[in-house]
Amino acid sequence: MYRRIVVLTGAGISAESGIQTFRDQDGLWEQHHIEDVATPEGYERNPELVETFYNDRRAQLALDTVQPNAAHLALARLEREFNGDCLVVTQNIDNLHERAGSHQLIHMHGELAKGRCPGSGQTFMLQAPFGPDNVCTCCLPAERLRPHVVWFGEMPLEMERIYDALERCDLFLAIGTSGTVYPAAGFVEVANHYSAHSVEVNLAPASGQSQFQYHMTGRAGELLPKLVDNILAGAPLW
Ligand code: APR
Repeated sequence: MYRRIVVLTGAGISAESGIQTFRDQDGLWEQHHIEDVATPEGYERNPELVETFYNDRRAQLALDTVQPNAAHLALARLEREFNGDCLVVTQNIDNLHERAGSHQLIHMHGELAKGRCPGSGQTFMLQAPFGPDNVCTCCLPAERLRPHVVWFGEMPLEMERIYDALERCDLFLAIGTSGTVYPAAGFVEVANHYSAHSVEVNLAPASGQSQFQYHMTGRAGELLPKLVDNILAGAPLW
């Protein structure tokens, strides 16, 4: 039935692993001001505040209680068993897709596990929390590593590769994203324009819901295993 799948994931797919989303009740953006912790200006103004925000999220991700959930595992199984292309484009900066076994994966908003040299743009797997002593090894004098996270006002990563995949896909899935932040929120329009089937999995109808041909309401951990079974069996999705 399908040959090329693109899956967009958002914070909702990690919610069942115990990681807060941004815009749900008691979400991250209710506890922190975006302009203080997720903009270049905020980092310029107060790097310590931003470092603490990301160090706290790194520490949470390292907890034994935070593991990939059934939704992450279902997408890794889809990549393994699907006879075609399957690319996961995640807006999430956690590493739960990798830990679930996904390899065809793009982190369009960056990764908590990495730091970036502000001078050269080179990224480093972090060995220690962000701070004045956590510096690059590519510059002299060494520069303080910043979070390898795409902040508001910055360009998401690998956009050309993402649009290329969207134009060629025949199935576009959006899992656990509120559809409020561009360019990710516009991906469904590209997929529809190129006649792909588009399916959204979300707890509640998200803002761009009307642009999806099919909407599955419920928890990703519950709905994705069955959806992946149907895709692998070549069964109609609706
Ligand atoms: N199963 C499915 N969907 C869920 C679940 C779940 N268990 N829990 C929450 N959701 C849905 C919510 O209904 C909501 O639509 O996940 C979505 C989470 O939305 P946001 O918190 O806005 O997260 P996201 O869409 O990933 O945000 C996009 O905004 O702040 C920036 O860079 C940040 O990458 C983030 C981007």
